[in-house]
Amino acid sequence: MPVILGIESSCDDTSAAVSVDGVIMSNVVANQSIHAAYGGVVPELASRVHQQNIIPAVQQALINAKVSKNDIDAVAFTRGPGLLGSLLVGVSFAKAFALAQNLPLIEVNHMQAHVLAHFIDEPKPKFPFMCLTVSGGHTQIILVKDYFDMEIIGQTMDDAAGEAMDKTSKILGLPYPGGPLIDKHARLGDREAFKFPEPNIPNYDFSFSGLKTSILYFIRDNVAANPDFLTNRMDDICASVEYRIVTILLNKLKKAALAYGIKDIALAGGVSANTGLRQGLTELCQKMNWNCFIPQFQYCTDNAGMIAIAGHYKYLNNDFVGQNVAPLARMPFN
Ligand code: KG4
Ligand code: ZN
Repeated sequence: MPVILGIESSCDDTSAAVSVDGVIMSNVVANQSIHAAYGGVVPELASRVHQQNIIPAVQQALINAKVSKNDIDAVAFTRGPGLLGSLLVGVSFAKAFALAQNLPLIEVNHMQAHVLAHFIDEPKPKFPFMCLTVSGGHTQIILVKDYFDMEIIGQTMDDAAGEAMDKTSKILGLPYPGGPLIDKHARLGDREAFKFPEPNIPNYDFSFSGLKTSILYFIRDNVAANPDFLTNRMDDICASVEYRIVTILLNKLKKAALAYGIKDIALAGGVSANTGLRQGLTELCQKMNWNCFIPQFQYCTDNAGMIAIAGHYKYLNNDFVGQNVAPLARMPFN
């Protein structure tokens, strides 16, 4: 019954979680509100807040899981990809904790962990399955052959889906992070109100930069004609933009799943918290007779629960790293 302490600090959320025999017993996430004033994550500020949050987050995770630090069998941490200064805080904490408690260390790839969040709750997808991972920094269609055998078959050539959400919200004058606010407004609007273009990108890759530019010009022209345009039509704009982002994602996912003959379809990453995307994928899976897997909200956005679960499966494989491990801003899968 391995007890794993998971640590996540790749961007602006400090998180600690405990898994016992592959079951998540606690998942504490300390968000950083400081970045809202700057319209995006300020890396230096993120590192400093991680330093303040990491010990209280771990203490709370141990309390919530009703375990003591002496019960822990291994420490799993996000090695990358992410902001180097942010990663450094989590990696340094994990190394110090492991050294003090004489425990093995397990490195985890943040993007693989988003996929492995599907092994936290039932029902679990069966290998091979296809996962659309959509976060603030990544948009990937992944063919998941085994826990740590994943192939990226499509990805964004420029902005990530979350970045497209956040940049659109910035154009609309909404505070950071904009994804959840677009979601909120979109629920009240008409998704057919405005038509935004779908890019023509080969294979299973994505591009969102053209969409961003078209939104920018659309808003500029309409605000010039009517200064109240944004106030009057905010819900319809958000609904239409969200709908286009969702259709871009789902059209590619459908194409990939059909080409590879996969019927277990999963969604991961922060943008999978989006209501329109969750509904859209659920409807697509019903129509195609596919099995649809969408994690609970708390395991969609950045969290240490997914790090602990990835750590659990690596622990079973005896896959450990030494104290000389360093964080990686960019980190390939294998
Ligand atoms: O996976 P994540 O928490 O962090 C990264 O690894 O990037 O993803 C964060 C992204 C942000 O771009 C945020 O705006 C977006 O997920 N997001 C959403 C929603 N909740 C978070 N986008 C749309 N609708 C949401 N409800
Ligand atoms: Zn993430």
